[in-house]
Amino acid sequence: MESIWTEKYRPKTFNEVIGQNNIVKRVEAMTKTGNLPNLLFSGPPGIGKSTLALVIANELFQNQSQSNFLELNASDERGIDVVRNTIKDFARMKSISGTFKIIFLDECDSLTKEAQQALRRTMENFSRNTRFILSANYSSKIIEPIQSRCISFKFRPLEKEQMKEIIDNIEKKENLTIDEKAKQALIEISEGDARKIANILQSCAAFGNQINEEMVFNLVSAAKQEEILDIINTAIAGNFLQSKDKLFETMLKHSLSGTDIIKQIQKGIWKTNLPDETKIKLIDKCGEIEFRLVEGSDEFIQLEALLAQFTGKCF
Ligand SMILES: Nc1ncnc2c1ncn2[C@@H]1O[C@H](COP(=O)(O)OP(=O)(O)O)[C@@H](O)[C@H]1O
Ligand SMILES: [Mg+2]
Repeated sequence: MESIWTEKYRPKTFNEVIGQNNIVKRVEAMTKTGNLPNLLFSGPPGIGKSTLALVIANELFQNQSQSNFLELNASDERGIDVVRNTIKDFARMKSISGTFKIIFLDECDSLTKEAQQALRRTMENFSRNTRFILSANYSSKIIEPIQSRCISFKFRPLEKEQMKEIIDNIEKKENLTIDEKAKQALIEISEGDARKIANILQSCAAFGNQINEEMVFNLVSAAKQEEILDIINTAIAGNFLQSKDKLFETMLKHSLSGTDIIKQIQKGIWKTNLPDETKIKLIDKCGEIEFRLVEGSDEFIQLEALLAQFTGKCF
C-alpha cells in the first residue's frame, strides 16, 4: 500500500527540517547537552512542531524512543482525565535510558483553564524524570504558570522559497513533473503549511505523474487567481450583472461555498489597482459578509451585496 506522503516526507533529523532556522539551532543545542527544559511550540498547522518533537526524541533515545517518548493529543475526545492518567502511568515508569522521558502534548490550547491547571500540577509532580513538549496554535491561550515553566518557541509559516524546496523534493523523489504554474498555485494555496503541500500532491499524483495548475485548483476547490481578479475587475468597471454571472459560474465550476470564495476575493483585493483606502474599505466589507455567511445568511444575497460595493455605487 502507498504510504501517506506527509509521513513519508517527515524530516527525521534536525538537518532535514526546512526553515525555522533559529528554533532548530537552539533546540538542537539543548538536545545535545542532554539536559532538555520543558518546551512550548506554537504556531499554525503543518510547519514542523510535531516533527521537531519527534526529531528530539529520535536524537535522544534512538531506537528506544518507544519506551521513552509518549505522544498525546490534548483535544482527545476521551477527555483530559484519560490524558492525565496516561501521563501519570507513563511518567511513573522508570526511564530505560536512565535520564528522563519526554511527553509530547499536542493541541494544548484546546484545554480549558482548569485542565491546564491540572496539567501544570502534573508537570510539577513529574518534573524530576519527565520533560514536556507542549504544542499549540496560540501560545497566548496557554496559562501563565505553564508558560513560565517552558521555553517558548514561535514557529512561522514556511517562506515561499522553503515551500518550493519541499515541492521540488517530492517532485524528484516521486518522479513527478509539476509545471511552474502548478507550483505557484500550490505555494499560494498552502499558505506556508507543508502538510497541505504533501497532501495535495499525493492526491494529484493519483491521476498520473504530470501535474498542472488545473488539477491543483480542481482538487482543493479553489478558483484560479485570474478568475477571481476578472470578477473583481468586471465589478469595478461597473458591470455589476456580468460580474455576478462570472462569480456564480466560478463557484459552480469549482464547487465553492460562499465562505470559500470570499477568502479568495479578500486576497484578490490586494492585487487590484484600487487606491489603498478603497482596498481597506472592501476588505472590511469582506470581513462583515464572511461573518454573516458563517451566521447563516443567504449566500447569494450576501455575495451580490459585496459585488455591489465593488461597482462603487455604494460609496
Ligand atoms: N519545517 C518543515 N520541513 C519539512 N517538512 C515539513 C516541515 N514542517 C512540516 N513538514 C511536513 O508537514 C508534515 C506535518 O508537519 P508537523 O510537524 O506534523 O506539523 P505541525 O506543525 O502541525 O505539528 C510533516 O510530516 C512534513 O511532511
Ligand atoms: Mg502537530
